[in-house]
Amino acid sequence: MQTTVGIIGGGPAGLLLARMLHRAGVECVVLESRDRAYVEQRQRAGILEQPTVDALREAGAAERLDAEGLVHDGIELRWDGRSHRIDFPSLTDGRRVWVYAQTEVVKDLIALQLEDGAPLFFGAEVTSVEGADTDRPTVHYTHEGRDEVLTCDYVVGCDGFHGVTRAAIPDGVQRTYDRVYPYSWLGILADVPPSCDELIYAHSPRGFALHSMRSPEVSRLYLQVPNGTDPADWSDERIWDELDARFAVDGDWKLRRGPITAKSVLPMRSSVTEPMRHGRVFLAGDAAHIVPPTGAKGLNLAAADVVVLARALVRRHTTGSSDLLDAYSDTCLRRVWRAEHFSYVMTTTLHTDPGQSGFDTRLQISQLDRIASSPHAAAELAQNYAGLPLP
Ligand code: FAD
Ligand code: DHB
Repeated sequence: MQTTVGIIGGGPAGLLLARMLHRAGVECVVLESRDRAYVEQRQRAGILEQPTVDALREAGAAERLDAEGLVHDGIELRWDGRSHRIDFPSLTDGRRVWVYAQTEVVKDLIALQLEDGAPLFFGAEVTSVEGADTDRPTVHYTHEGRDEVLTCDYVVGCDGFHGVTRAAIPDGVQRTYDRVYPYSWLGILADVPPSCDELIYAHSPRGFALHSMRSPEVSRLYLQVPNGTDPADWSDERIWDELDARFAVDGDWKLRRGPITAKSVLPMRSSVTEPMRHGRVFLAGDAAHIVPPTGAKGLNLAAADVVVLARALVRRHTTGSSDLLDAYSDTCLRRVWRAEHFSYVMTTTLHTDPGQSGFDTRLQISQLDRIASSPHAAAELAQNYAGLPLP
């Protein structure tokens, strides 16, 4: 098989890229190793920043998002029994965020692609990408028990953190920067209406907690837990008791409890691979970088990468100019490092490190007090959270 752009991975990055290219008349093919049900049900991110929503709308993929997504104009921070709301629109020239699960974004993009989009193969596992330095790189994959080859003008690795495309950038060329955090998140889904209108990020001496949601009927909550935690060690009652203790606040707020339908542990790590391009092979989304989840940047960064890449590939296709393709890695890495820093600051301000001293805790409280008292500090958080404008 031959195509113009071979896209490896049918997660949000690969599917959105395929949608944008197809609408612009650039031929592409998506190869996804898992089956459709698996990809559509994988529980992950829940918050879309303004530029991601703008991109989905422009791609004609926001009909259900606009009908069912929950628009949020702020978040609440809690610490020391106090709470403070950050208002996004007033601090960001009108930007906001949407609660709309990654599962739903993926379902919408898959439905559109199968209806009238580029070819999308499930169960197509890529084993290697060859010839990044040549004019016709090749993607080697297995599908329905056969070894296949996809010959492309360009290959884009949207195959996530454990993907194979990164290996196409030679060791002497690529450099990876990473940091592993000494704690994880225990995430739950519960069939109970959220106990808040907006997300709550709580700092507590017992560790971080986050109250998010998936719909008016389903709550999504997270607890900081030690690395290596087995979710089976956390009974439902223990989880609710711990959440209650960490969200404690002066006043009469109450956490609603309900049946827990899913529990999982998520390790926290930052990693960036540079450059995000070698020859005719490009990396986008988690294939190039991951962030710890605090601040919800992972999915949004993936969307930003493919917006920049789609624009560059369309320009190459329509004008023959490769200037935007040549700038792709540098353009994306500026935003990536901004998001890495924001996620790091949110994570280290709100979590309790196992070796944390009283001094460290006082610094965290001072930073939270500063955000509550300074519009400048609050605006810095709001602008990063709601999404900086795309270049
Ligand atoms: P992915 O979604 O990882 O998609 C990559 C795709 O490539 C997958 O479908 C995979 O099956 C496919 N693939 C991999 N290897 C191959 C191969 N060899 N051949 C063919 N296909 C292949 N972010 C948040 O903001 N908030 C959260 O709460 C949050 N929770 C997360 C929980 C988990 C467990 C993980 C892993 C991530 C979480 N994230 C979260 C991050 C967010 O989900 C990612 O940033 C986002 O999924 C990135 O999209 P992507 O398309 O780049 O990669
Ligand atoms: C969610 C995840 C996050 O990492 C975050 O900062 C906010 C919300 C979520 O899954 O809903």
